[in-house]
Amino acid sequence: MKTKIFGKEGISEAAEILKGGGLVAFPTETVYGLGGNGLDKEAAKKIYAAKGRPSDNPLILHVSSIEEVYPLVKALPEKAKKLMEAFWPGPLTLVLPKSDLVPKESTGGLETVALRSPENALTLSLIRACGFPIAGPSANLSGRPSPTEASHVFEDLGGRIEGILEDGAVGIGVESTIVDLSENCPTLLRPGAITIEDLEEVLGEKVAIDPTLLGKSMAEGFIPKAPGMKYRHYAPKAEMILFKKNLLSDQSQKVNEIPYGEEKKLIAKSILSYGAKELSDCPERKIWILCGEDTASLYEGDSRFTVKILGRREEPLSMTHNLFRLLRQADEEGVELILGECYSEEGVGFALMNRMKKAAGQRIFYV
Ligand code: TXA
Ligand code: MG
Repeated sequence: MKTKIFGKEGISEAAEILKGGGLVAFPTETVYGLGGNGLDKEAAKKIYAAKGRPSDNPLILHVSSIEEVYPLVKALPEKAKKLMEAFWPGPLTLVLPKSDLVPKESTGGLETVALRSPENALTLSLIRACGFPIAGPSANLSGRPSPTEASHVFEDLGGRIEGILEDGAVGIGVESTIVDLSENCPTLLRPGAITIEDLEEVLGEKVAIDPTLLGKSMAEGFIPKAPGMKYRHYAPKAEMILFKKNLLSDQSQKVNEIPYGEEKKLIAKSILSYGAKELSDCPERKIWILCGEDTASLYEGDSRFTVKILGRREEPLSMTHNLFRLLRQADEEGVELILGECYSEEGVGFALMNRMKKAAGQRIFYV
């Protein structure tokens, strides 16, 4: 199959493909999505096949307005309305009890449905032109980092889907925040650019956090409520290890505090000596160091390593923006080992570190 690339002028042609049961990838503010008719179980099956994704992993239905949600859910609780009004269109997905209109093939067999209105003008027009919600997981092959540019989608899904609606590089770069509102207490299932603090401010109540986001593992019997969070994700082919200050050795420091100069130096020293040891065992090893703009100078003196700047430590969104692109680039360049710093988990930092730890398979080296 030939994959067509569409721009703004191609929206109605892209909508015709979706109406005919085909698949078109679409841009959002978080990552590119792989779209199909959200009310058509055959389209859902095609999405799983194109992505190579297990079909127990439910899809998100993308809508262009709050009104479009009513037919898709059993009821729309006040809390959901408040969050939609505050953050839509935007990087927030809400899980609610589904109506019979939504096929179980789109929800991985669950009685709930995940809904979101993305902040991208082309995609909002595409949804309107279709007249139905567009089901869309991230438009990557299962297991690869989510796509933040149309070229990433083409790399993974070219020849497997009918089209890609192109709109440059996305802004945020990590997937939307997911909040489960299907039970009494709102629960965060996946951190994103809308933070817990943002949610609590609008809701005026505490938001619970899925224990698996706080380090509880499946080995201990905790299963993430968002089925997709249990899969190995965002993983580069390279081995990735993160370095963090061992807080036990410094009780005076708070968990989320941005590291002070000495600590940054300590981490840099440890990363460099770890890399040097790897090279002494295996001199050909291609090693990347992933760091903040502020610490790059601590690594750049050593030409044996390629230093990649993730972004500005004080602005986690500048880092989420680059993370998946860099992980894909590492794959392309045949990088074998990525050594990275850890950052504050405050605010959007929680989403950044969630993705970084997943990419590293939770491997953290305490300095
Ligand atoms: O930013 C995003 O959310 C992107 C763009 C394209 O909108 N989409 C995205 O989709 O990340 P995907 O399929 O890669 O991730 C959806 C996540 C999965 O972890 C899935 O398990 C969870 O949402 N999910 C979907 N429906 C759910 C439900 N009914 N209950 C719990 N989790 C659900
Ligand atoms: Mg995904």
